[in-house]
Amino acid sequence: MQAIPGSIEAVETLLSDQNYVTGRALATVAFLALKLGRPLFLEGEAGVGKTEIAKALAAGLDRRLIRLQCYEGLDAASAVYEWNFPAQMVAIRTAEVTEGTDRETLTDELFSDRFLIRRPLLEAMSPQPGGPPVLLIDELDRTDEPFEAFLLEALSDFQVTIPELGTIRAPEPPIVILTSNRTREVHDALKRRCLYHWVDYPDFDREMQILAARAPEASQTLSREIVAFVQRLRTEDLFKKPGVAETIDWAKCLLALDVIALSPEVIADTIGAILKYQDDIQRLAGSEAARLLDDSRKALAERP
Ligand SMILES: Nc1ncnc2c1ncn2[C@@H]1O[C@H](COP(=O)(O)OP(=O)(O)OP(=O)(O)O)[C@@H](O)[C@H]1O
Ligand SMILES: [Mg+2]
Repeated sequence: MQAIPGSIEAVETLLSDQNYVTGRALATVAFLALKLGRPLFLEGEAGVGKTEIAKALAAGLDRRLIRLQCYEGLDAASAVYEWNFPAQMVAIRTAEVTEGTDRETLTDELFSDRFLIRRPLLEAMSPQPGGPPVLLIDELDRTDEPFEAFLLEALSDFQVTIPELGTIRAPEPPIVILTSNRTREVHDALKRRCLYHWVDYPDFDREMQILAARAPEASQTLSREIVAFVQRLRTEDLFKKPGVAETIDWAKCLLALDVIALSPEVIADTIGAILKYQDDIQRLAGSEAARLLDDSRKALAERP
């Protein structure tokens, strides 16, 4: 188990050791979340590194990563615990044919650890050999308000009560990271418990650093062209702008095709790596890709 980093710079180093590039603002809020033991709430566009930072932190701190993936209709049973009903039925049947099992022992047995299915929140509240885990509550905006209210409670006292077993309390609170794509606003009460950071698209220099970390095979010249083009593309009015994930994917596609420089033809052939909606792809048809490429090259020429 790695100790909690003692400074903002130490957080930056810990993350960069995991090939995760942060700016000062994100490193600061992550440092504070760790230091004060507060949940970190990250909001931002798709593919900007919200989920990845939780993975990088867990790996860097040598902690277990426990992920609760949110979706519509997620309820406490799927988030905290469930009884293994089929296994309980089998145990009851077996007891019926075995003589001498008394009812009380059977009931105790049926609601013991053996038949308990631990879901992510219960796991995160249970003692972990490597120290408090990183609990990633991913894409919170996909759940509904009742679940959010439930979560608020779970996050305020870090304990879970199972009527048949009693209360399970985290010996030390887990490191909690929540993410949202902001398809709806998350309730103020929950946000108030957390430190908040909006994860934006990286600027040119940071995206170059990310590409160097994640697609180191790409040459400096090609990387610069890729990043400049993607940055230019993001200023267009698109239905879904390319995230950092798309930039990395695109670089890998271009490398696989042995491309050394962008051209309108290459862009047309590989556009599916950066744009995922037909309407957006359509916008780039004809001379539009060439125009954006020209623009991005002009911007590159002006860079030192
Ligand atoms: N700052 C960064 N440093 C290194 N890699 C990054 C960074 N940001 C994004 N990436 C890369 O982009 C990929 C996508 O990031 P991630 O899955 O964290 O995005 P997200 O914000 O969670 O997106 P979504 O909202 O779609 O879930 C990661 O696998 C990682 O390779
Ligand atoms: Mg994510």
